[in-house]
Amino acid sequence: MTTVTADNLIDGRAIAEEIHQETRQIITRLYDNGLQPGLAFIRVGEDPASKVYVGMKEKTCTRLGIRSRTEVLPEATEQKDLLRRIAELNADPTVHGILVQAPLPAHIDSAAVFNTISPGKDVDGFHPVNMGKLLLGDPSGFVPCTPAGVQQLLLRTGIATAGAEVVVLGRGNIVGKPLAALLLQKARGADATVTLCHSRTRHIAEHCRRADILVAAMGVAHFVKADMVKPGAIVIDVGVNRVADAAAPNGSKLVGDVDFDAVRLVAGRITPNPGGVGPMTIAMLLSNTARAAAQALGIKID
Ligand code: GUN
Repeated sequence: MTTVTADNLIDGRAIAEEIHQETRQIITRLYDNGLQPGLAFIRVGEDPASKVYVGMKEKTCTRLGIRSRTEVLPEATEQKDLLRRIAELNADPTVHGILVQAPLPAHIDSAAVFNTISPGKDVDGFHPVNMGKLLLGDPSGFVPCTPAGVQQLLLRTGIATAGAEVVVLGRGNIVGKPLAALLLQKARGADATVTLCHSRTRHIAEHCRRADILVAAMGVAHFVKADMVKPGAIVIDVGVNRVADAAAPNGSKLVGDVDFDAVRLVAGRITPNPGGVGPMTIAMLLSNTARAAAQALGIKID
C-alpha cells in the first residue's frame, strides 16, 4: 500500500488561484482596450445548491473585475420566455458570456435552452457547436468548465495523461461525456486511453482497478471504495452529494463520489472534496468568459 501523507492531496484551490491570476492578466488587457468583460447568470427556481453555486461564481467574477448579474426567474417560467430572455442577452454587446444554471425545472428542455445561447457567448461549452468542436479537437470553441478544470488539475500537478488508462465514471453531458472527449484528443494534457463507465457497465470495479487515473462523476455518494482503486492511482472526485448526517446542524452534509477517508490511503494523489474540482470549475468559467470577451473585441490571447 502506498505511504500516506497529507501531501497526496491535489490542492484545487491553489491551482484555481493560479488560473485566476492568468485570467486577471487577460482582463487587464481588456480594460486597457476599454472593455470590461460581462457575464450574465440565469437561475430558474430556487434549487438550494444552484443558489450556492451561482453565488460563488458571481463573487469570484467581482473579485476578478468581471461585471456579472444574476437573473432569477420563477420556477414556473415558461420555456419560451426563458428562450426570449436568452435571445436578448445574445444581442446585448455588454454581455460576453451567458450561463443558465442546471438543473432546470422538469418542464424546460435544457437542450433547447443550451442550443439558444449564442456559441460565442456559451462559456459553459454546452452548445452543440462547442461540443462538436471539442469532439473534433478544434480549440476555437469553449470547453465545458468542469472537464476543463479536471484537465488543468492533472496538467498543473504534473500528472502524465499520455498513454495513461483513464477511467471516467458517469456519462452526463456536463462532465463525463465531454471529459472523455477532452482526454482522448491528440493534444497536450490528453492522449489518454479513455474508458467511460456508466450505470449499465458490467464489472465496473474491474474497470476502476485498471485505471491510472480514475475520475468519479456519476453522482453516487461514496461509490468508489478503496478496493476499487489501484495502489498509487490518481483519483479525481467530481461528485457533490447531499447525505443525511445526524451530527450536522441541518441534518445533512455534502460528500463526494469517492469514499475519501479510505481511498486516500491507497491513491497516489487524490482531490479533497470540497477544495478539489469545485474551485477549478469556477476558474475555467472565468477564463472562458475572459476569452469570450477578447474574441468579441478581436484580441488574440492564446
Ligand atoms: N450545474 C452543475 N454544473 C454546472 C455547470 O458547469 N454549468 C451550468 N450551467 N450548470 C451546472
